[in-house]
Amino acid sequence: MKNFTDIKDISKGDIEDILTRTKNEKISIKENGIQSIEKILLGKTVALVFEKPSTRTRVSFEVGISQQGGSTSVLQSSDIQLSRGETVADTAKVLSKYVDLIVVRCFKHQTMIDFSNNSSVPVVNGLTDQSHPCQVIADILTIEENKGHLSKQNLLWIGDGNNVARSWLEASKLTNLNLTICTPENLSLPNDLIESSVKDGVNLLVDNDPNTAIRNKSVIITDTWNSMGDGSVNKENSLMPYQVNKNLMSKARKDAVFMHCLPAHRGCEVTEEVIDSKQSLVFEGAENRLHVQRSIIWWCLNSD
Ligand code: CP
Ligand code: NVA
Repeated sequence: MKNFTDIKDISKGDIEDILTRTKNEKISIKENGIQSIEKILLGKTVALVFEKPSTRTRVSFEVGISQQGGSTSVLQSSDIQLSRGETVADTAKVLSKYVDLIVVRCFKHQTMIDFSNNSSVPVVNGLTDQSHPCQVIADILTIEENKGHLSKQNLLWIGDGNNVARSWLEASKLTNLNLTICTPENLSLPNDLIESSVKDGVNLLVDNDPNTAIRNKSVIITDTWNSMGDGSVNKENSLMPYQVNKNLMSKARKDAVFMHCLPAHRGCEVTEEVIDSKQSLVFEGAENRLHVQRSIIWWCLNSD
């Protein structure tokens, strides 16, 4: 049984398998229509547990599972007994009796780990306060479809050192892509994580100055200044200089693309003129969540 808990928990080969299958399935959909999607979930049910709101993750999993012949049970944590004190362990054990796979979006990373430790069916991380692996695998696909192999790109993560940034750091460890992280010092990823990545030989550069960090970059990625697990922390003052606007984008490579996992806040982390420009891949990226997640489910259920 395979869980999709974090990028650091899988191998480079696993990512390649997921991406190759997704690319092939997309070709097959283009040539033979949506009906050609392999019905690997016939007679199977997937539970989707949400402690936080979601548009893309929820709908792309629901649709992708239905395209594969399966059905879903969407559970807002406030509607189930978790909200009245039932433990994660008991919930995971019980859900495992009914369903064939569980997707979890939660606040504490440990909640998702507890699900995976107590479930007898695969668990997929649908975002925690620490990571968002489904997003980053979909983003890798979007980059490769538009720019060629990931190893040929210079990626810039700019803005908050958050959950998506951490998954990118894990991806860079695995794939050795060229990653620059540009955050204010007070909002950086944990130092030990950066140091251990550098020790492991990751192609990682930390540059806190947006104007130098963006030079020669081919992929510019940012995210909201206030993640769902942040509560009411105000980061605006620290992050305003890291806004991706036309002026900053003009300092990147001419053929640079812009990415954002969405939801976006126009006028904060990115301006309208950038997110709605030809350089922006945000909606293609959102579509790829659907395609990649069908393969993540396939990978989890495939015993090879
Ligand atoms: N990018 C992403 O995970 O979006 P949702 O929060 O809408 O699921
Ligand atoms: N960092 C954001 C990602 C949303 C998909 C959050 O956690 O809210």
